[in-house]
Amino acid sequence: MRKKIIAGNWKMNMTPSQAVELVNTLKPLVANEEADVVFCVPAIDIVPVTEACKGTNIQVGAENMYFEESGAYTGEISPDMLTDAGVKYVVLGHSERREYFHETNADVNKKVLKALEHGITPIMCCGETLEQREQGVTMDFIRQQVKVGFQNVTADQAKTTVIAYEPIWAIGTGKTATTEQAEEVCRGIRECIAEIYDDATAAEIRIQYGGSVNAGNAAELFAQPDIDGGLVGGASLKADFGKIVNYK
Ligand code: 13P
Repeated sequence: MRKKIIAGNWKMNMTPSQAVELVNTLKPLVANEEADVVFCVPAIDIVPVTEACKGTNIQVGAENMYFEESGAYTGEISPDMLTDAGVKYVVLGHSERREYFHETNADVNKKVLKALEHGITPIMCCGETLEQREQGVTMDFIRQQVKVGFQNVTADQAKTTVIAYEPIWAIGTGKTATTEQAEEVCRGIRECIAEIYDDATAAEIRIQYGGSVNAGNAAELFAQPDIDGGLVGGASLKADFGKIVNYK
């Protein structure tokens, strides 16, 4: 039985002091033994948020990471910096990074491998544009993202990894994928993992849905057989996140 994983992606929101305030507000609301609860926060918020989350069930994640160990990469953040600060998860290949910062599947693959090498669990994002959905190439596009993203990742490593399916047209639009659409693609991703590895790996890997998840739609989405939780943007910055974490 896969444990649900419900993660907030704060994106470029919350100054360090606002971040601590938000954690203090959400702390009592997000207690849930049955799910992994992760706050993925801006790099500058990681240290104060980790401190504020001590003694709670909240695990801290980063929103990005570079694939080199250290050196002349001005503005980037390394895996050691993240682990030393207490980070357990990292969002990789979010569609916003692919779109605005030109991250490729090959870059995402390097980051996935580097995170795994350092014991950080990647939350690898994938998802189609509206145009691709209308053209009927959703699964082809996502299969490529997954297959390239998982190059040279072993089955044992893949089992620990999280994939977030986030249709780009559903992000920040208030337009959630229907439960059927979300389940269909998450099942397709699981089948793709079974093809790359085997049924046991596919049965263990956790696949989230993301894109306008809110307190009203979380229960139905997370009840689907292939949806193991959510990656939540806007609603993770509000008290509603407590309702999403305790969706049952
Ligand atoms: P919203 O929940 O705001 O649509 O954002 C989804 C997302 O991109 C999470 O990574």
